[in-house]
Amino acid sequence: MAPSALPRVVATRRLPGTALDRLAAASDLWVWPERGPIPRPALTEQVGAAEGLLCTGVDPVDAALLGAAPALRAISSYSVGLDNIDLAGCARRGLPVGHTPDVLTESTADIAFGLLLAGARRFKEGLDLVRRGWDYWYPEMLLGEDVHSSTIGIVGLGRIGTAVARRAAGFGMRILYHDRNRRPEAEARLGAAFRATLPALLAESDHVVLTLPLTPETYHLIGATALAAMKPTATLVNAARGPLVDPDALARALRAGTIAAAALDVTEPEPLPPDHSLVGLPNCTILPHLGSASRSTRIAMADLAVANLLAGLAGDPLPAPAPSPSPQTR
Ligand code: DGY
Repeated sequence: MAPSALPRVVATRRLPGTALDRLAAASDLWVWPERGPIPRPALTEQVGAAEGLLCTGVDPVDAALLGAAPALRAISSYSVGLDNIDLAGCARRGLPVGHTPDVLTESTADIAFGLLLAGARRFKEGLDLVRRGWDYWYPEMLLGEDVHSSTIGIVGLGRIGTAVARRAAGFGMRILYHDRNRRPEAEARLGAAFRATLPALLAESDHVVLTLPLTPETYHLIGATALAAMKPTATLVNAARGPLVDPDALARALRAGTIAAAALDVTEPEPLPPDHSLVGLPNCTILPHLGSASRSTRIAMADLAVANLLAGLAGDPLPAPAPSPSPQTR
């Protein structure tokens, strides 16, 4: 059979919507057919001749994989987070990398805010009680902490953090934030107040929401010391990346009452084994990384991911290129 004149493209997952059909029309596309992750040896073999790679945020694209893909000309990640990709290695090779910001901002902020409500108002314990069977209502039953009118501390006021702040404003909350960069526009528009240090933000916030990227500097940002700086009535929400939080320190803090609750869309490791101590804790709500998981958002992500890859293969500017050199906002 004559080799295809179209560029060889490898996609590590099927995607919702019709974007992969467009990619298939413009490339010699191979898609991993299973729902679960492609095993590393299979991916290494497939990228050997690939010119384009469409991966997800949970597929490691590290130096070894890049080394196994000498013909690669463009990478597109079906995610906003890029901690899975060796961006420095790609930059050295001049490989364009795309991601999917903006289209998932509001859906992810919805999940973050939903988790905040779930944690502070003890949804998990309420649901468990209903499942076990409950006898009567009483005035002190499952008392939680208010979200409305409280102080929210947002760590990472990028796109998603700002969308969380907008929701917080609607709930009459006082908004504090900590970020590498000051955000004068958000300060003016949302009345958000900057805190220069994380401990200052943690001590003053009634609830804390993490919406910052995972980098070597932010790994285990929330450990025993940070948790001890939070209020005992606080809920911690992680809607960003699991390894921002030390899971063992968090489990100890939740058991000891150092903080009131945690509500996590992401964990370290992911998935968390069902026998992990966090899973059984009544004051720890955990979702299986659903941040962007609405039908229309996941379709929009597929459209953008494919547009990025096609642009990269054509040598055109990507609609949504990876920030360089070090992405610091989501
Ligand atoms: C993202 O887009 O980064 C989501 O967390 C999925 O990886």
